[in-house]
Amino acid sequence: MRYRAHWTSAQILAVQSLGPDIRQIDLLPEGGPERFTAGAHLDFRVFVAGKPEVRSYSLVGRHDPRLPYRVAVKAAPSSRGGSSYMWSLEPGHRIQISQPQNNFPLTFGRPEYLLLAGGIGITPIYGMALELLARGAEVQLHYGAASRAQMAYADDLQVRLGDRVRLYDASEGDMVDLNALIGSVTPGVQLYVCGPMPMLNAAKQIWHAHRMPEPDLRFETFGASGRFAPQGFQVYLPHLNRTVDVGEHQSMLDALTDAGVEVLYDCRKGECGLCAVDVVACDGALDHRDLFFSEEQKAVNDRMCACVSRVVNGGISIDVGYRGEPPVPGRT
Ligand code: FES
Repeated sequence: MRYRAHWTSAQILAVQSLGPDIRQIDLLPEGGPERFTAGAHLDFRVFVAGKPEVRSYSLVGRHDPRLPYRVAVKAAPSSRGGSSYMWSLEPGHRIQISQPQNNFPLTFGRPEYLLLAGGIGITPIYGMALELLARGAEVQLHYGAASRAQMAYADDLQVRLGDRVRLYDASEGDMVDLNALIGSVTPGVQLYVCGPMPMLNAAKQIWHAHRMPEPDLRFETFGASGRFAPQGFQVYLPHLNRTVDVGEHQSMLDALTDAGVEVLYDCRKGECGLCAVDVVACDGALDHRDLFFSEEQKAVNDRMCACVSRVVNGGISIDVGYRGEPPVPGRT
């Protein structure tokens, strides 16, 4: 169950390839674009295997009332199908979208900002860089990807940021040295990170190891790769005496909600912790893929985020905790 604001119909205006696996999509909602801030995203109603699902994509660039919304979507062959649906969109198609929401906002007034993007994680970071530049802030951007061809907006960023942007092409063996980067951060600097889960987990661990203030590390993730390749598994709910099958390309949260089991959730990206369920028993291996629990909490294996975390080589019994709205006295 999730609070969801109204949905709006939007028309696809343009689709452009930004590399071998990134597609930029411009779209115009009915009534025109709403104001948004750097780091904001839109939710999209996509169809996966014929069923409606929700996917979130960061808004690219800065708000300009004269311009349509812009997102960039990376093709993810092993994904659950949301990116395939987005890639099927052509100019003239219509899609339902939410209004802009921001779970990854910039805080202004800091002496310096460090931005770190991995792959398609550049999409919110790009707008942040533009916003900070427009405000005259001190900003440095470190941007890594599997190859130079997979660095969307890199040329534009180099023009705008000059030597304040550093690109890392992994195909050339050039990788961000997170330990050195974070070790060089001076007090008061904020670090904003968006990228794949292993990069974020590493950044979090190193940030904490350097005893940096927790609120000064801001992050957002995409995808949720884990320690194991995804497998289908079964979830048993003792309090309902029900078993739910989770498909290989389906999240546990989706399987539960499809089966009519009420679970609280919000981000669907392993960040907010709202979907966390109690693990009653597990005869397989838990593959924690969230950023919400600490490594110590994950090691205990007594809770997991249903939106991203999975089980391999076995099944699991859980308690979702939520028992529905309490009855209102006097109402039948
Ligand atoms: S819904 Fe936010 S962590 Fe799962």
